[in-house]
Amino acid sequence: MLNPRLDLLTDYPFTRLRALLDAEPLPAGLTPINLSIGEPQHPMPGFVTEFLTRDLSSLSRYPTPNGTPQLRAACAAWLKRRYALPEGLIDPERQIVALNGSREGLYMIAGVVVPEKKGPKNERPLVLMPNPFYQTYVAAAVTAGAEPYFVAATPENGFLPDFAGLPADVLARTALVYLCSPANPQGTVASLDYLTRLIELARQYDFVIAFDECYAEIYDQVPPPGGLEAALRLSGGKASDDALKNVVVFHSLSKRSSMPGLRSGFCAGDARITQAFIKLRNYGCAGLMMPVAEASAALWQDERHVEENRALYRQKFDMAQNALGNRFGFFRPAGGFYLWLDVGDSEAAAKRLWRQAGIRSLPGLYLTRPENNGEKAGKPYLRLALVADLETTRLALQRIGNVLGG
Ligand SMILES: Cc1ncc(COP(=O)(O)O)c(C=O)c1O
Repeated sequence: MLNPRLDLLTDYPFTRLRALLDAEPLPAGLTPINLSIGEPQHPMPGFVTEFLTRDLSSLSRYPTPNGTPQLRAACAAWLKRRYALPEGLIDPERQIVALNGSREGLYMIAGVVVPEKKGPKNERPLVLMPNPFYQTYVAAAVTAGAEPYFVAATPENGFLPDFAGLPADVLARTALVYLCSPANPQGTVASLDYLTRLIELARQYDFVIAFDECYAEIYDQVPPPGGLEAALRLSGGKASDDALKNVVVFHSLSKRSSMPGLRSGFCAGDARITQAFIKLRNYGCAGLMMPVAEASAALWQDERHVEENRALYRQKFDMAQNALGNRFGFFRPAGGFYLWLDVGDSEAAAKRLWRQAGIRSLPGLYLTRPENNGEKAGKPYLRLALVADLETTRLALQRIGNVLGG
């Protein structure tokens, strides 16, 4: 009765975390602090309330399936500004897919681009992803009928999966690659060279790259380069029908605008893919609520709140640097908002932090599959999301330093 392929999905990381911690007693009098989930808690920009509440009459109608023209135009214009893209590279009508958050898009894209068979021996296609990885990728691969293939991101490769180093028979079977930059969990930013080489590889072996860029606006010093920028470099800076071949990117307001509850993101890229994607969404998905589409258009047009948001994360990484110094292999990530600490045994450390300090963290083991070096890539690390306010973060870092010692 149930789809047997779902057996390939292990328990979700947060289910495993509850099983690990919920039976553990908390120390008396300690307020718990949750750093396990990447849910931004900075204040949301005040001006969006007006957009969300001014005309609720639209809720008595079905929303249009692919956002509004204003939203699509705002997304395309933001991409153009953010990545210095030429006029005409992104046609807002054909190449922007409005999403209820990037997660559902990252899930659905596999259903758009994974064929039934791939490679010279006509085998089940592969979907490649970093290890550790954002869990949606594996569910996408499995339900699209592909085999997930995990490519380790370890300190030895600078936390960037070496897709180009894979055997040719693996690449020949590959239908889709997920790359997250800045990466969740390590915060690694892939260089323009790395992105460009990956696109060349995708074209050589005819697979699609889903660039998960939902942390693109949370960075320390330098704005991370993106997949569209890399594709443009390969086309000599010119917009053309083929300039974005095999490339789609995903963006989100959840991290950029600290509004994970808004559920708003988009996909952009290769017109053949985005048009098939829009068509599939027409059949199976809900459009964005109209007030959400309007608020989102306004958010993509505003940079001030994003700069304020980044400044808060920088302050928290300053605090973390002071509090942790060079303990637990601390490094200041180029992007994202996670600490990725080498604690030896991540489950044991998560238990200790909870039991002795009331801090909820996520063992890297739960974000990792054991295959292909996965134990090493995840097990020693603890992921801590620096999403709380400054004061809570200061308190949390103090407790972490005390309990983990080092
Ligand atoms: C790597 C990564 N991709 C995608 C998402 C999905 O974000 P949203 O659906 O809120 O846009 C998240 C959220 O935590 C994430 O960490």
